[in-house]
Amino acid sequence: MQILINEIRYWMKEAGEKIKHALSEEELTVDTKTSRKDLVTNIDKMIQEYLADQMLAFDPESKILGEENGHDQLKDLSGRVFIIDPIDGTMNFVLEQENFCIMVAVYEDGEGLLGFVYDVMEDRLLWGGRDIGVFLNEERVPVPADCPLSEGLLGMNASMYAQNAYNAQLMGDRSMGVRMSGCAGLELIDMALGKRIGYVSHLAPWDYAPGGVLIEALGMKMSSIYGETLKIDGRERFLAGTPAAYEEMLTLALQSKK
Ligand code: IPD
Ligand code: CA
Ligand code: CA
Repeated sequence: MQILINEIRYWMKEAGEKIKHALSEEELTVDTKTSRKDLVTNIDKMIQEYLADQMLAFDPESKILGEENGHDQLKDLSGRVFIIDPIDGTMNFVLEQENFCIMVAVYEDGEGLLGFVYDVMEDRLLWGGRDIGVFLNEERVPVPADCPLSEGLLGMNASMYAQNAYNAQLMGDRSMGVRMSGCAGLELIDMALGKRIGYVSHLAPWDYAPGGVLIEALGMKMSSIYGETLKIDGRERFLAGTPAAYEEMLTLALQSKK
């Protein structure tokens, strides 16, 4: 497993260098996908192709589930699956040139084994898994305190909050405050680092799998908004938190059903 970890860390750093180079030297081509706020650039596609090429060269038997380049469907999760979000927070990437990350998860027979989230502009690589713990670059990340909702900041999807979906506003009121970064990976990094007690959103597998492996390795919880196991298949309403905050938010989400 150490060889696989070292390879992925190397690929992610290389991908980060490609992004920084592209930001300074190349013209960005921005296209829309499902709406005018759902963006993809030439760099997203190039980074996914680079990562997928390295993965398949390393392990030709493995499968790819990735947001771009027509790899966004995978029904058979048996064996080793690499899950890729080449740029998470593409809107931030285009408009801010920061607050985005590269994300990779390794799944084995449907179970999350390893997660990697690389905040390129801050050079912060969070990586790890259930059997090895979680690291920020070379430093081990301590298990965050199990804070209740009332003692921490809550990451939130803007439209779910605006619409009070699943009692999202009540969750926010009971927390110390709501934060919206536009980047699922950074929200999950912040949970791993003890800066957030939870995150409520609407996410695809490549949005939650990499950071999800990390927060679960630190004893935090994630599921669908109603507490079901995430399907790794299509977008789902997503809930994550410290064990205490998660239970409080799940209760509120379930109450919104009635
Ligand atoms: C998006 C971001 C955003 C989340 C969206 C995702 P993308 O990913 O993670 O925070 O709210 O649901 O689609 O499209 O920038 O990779
Ligand atoms: Ca994403
Ligand atoms: Ca993306």
